[in-house]
Amino acid sequence: MIDRADIDRLAGWIASARRIVGFSGAGISTESGVPDFRSPGSPWLRNRPVPFDAFMASPAMRAEAWRRKFAMDDLYAGARPSAGHHFFARLVASGAMTCIVTQNIDGLHQASGVPPGRIVELHGNGTYARCLSCGARKELAWVRAAFEASGVPPDCDECGGIVKSATVSFGQPLPAEALERAKDASLAADLFLVVGSSLVVYPAAALPVLARRAGARLVIVNREATELDALADLVIRADIGDVVSAL
Ligand code: APR
Repeated sequence: MIDRADIDRLAGWIASARRIVGFSGAGISTESGVPDFRSPGSPWLRNRPVPFDAFMASPAMRAEAWRRKFAMDDLYAGARPSAGHHFFARLVASGAMTCIVTQNIDGLHQASGVPPGRIVELHGNGTYARCLSCGARKELAWVRAAFEASGVPPDCDECGGIVKSATVSFGQPLPAEALERAKDASLAADLFLVVGSSLVVYPAAALPVLARRAGARLVIVNREATELDALADLVIRADIGDVVSAL
């Protein structure tokens, strides 16, 4: 049951904030049909992402990584933005939310109409691929056609480099430019609004701490307890969709 007083507090803080940073995890996309990573029964637990060093180590692991990726993509093909995505998009459009820092790779913040310049994708984007050598963007349909025709994922047709989903895998460094933008936004925030994240993966989970120490109010909206609840000014333990409706 959502506490009305909590909703009124959050609504008041949003109304008076001038530099809100929205921080989203997989929980904002579950209402779009995209499974999160750590809720019991998540299909990700059966299709664990392949770590970067394993991906680079062998063609067999690259084939397995692409097989898992396409299996998961089929799970949520056609997913549409949730009430949470639209709520963030409205705050960005109003000017109150300066930036969305997301750990998600599903592209749903873009699909909700948020200009890409207002989105920082800490863990990359899984809706396209890139050559790891020359950086050229490769469409997933191109990769999938070649992979399903031959059973071997294609190398870059421009430089022969290894082609990988444009996500950041475990063991792969986060894009430095994205992390810098996220840090700058967090340091300037007056309200840091976390939705749908267990806050267990770093360096992403260090950003709410950075913002709070720099003077931002920290609010966490999440179905379950998170690692940073004790640090937050307000924790609303509920579904994002219900909180957005109540706001
Ligand atoms: N409303 C509120 N909270 C929700 C909802 C919802 N509709 N659905 C799920 N949640 C909560 C879950 O209870 C969970 O605590 O969202 C949280 C999602 O946590 P994770 O599955 O750990 O996802 P996330 O925090 O984004 O994971 C971070 O880990 O696997 C890596 O790179 C991957 O970006 C991912 C990172």
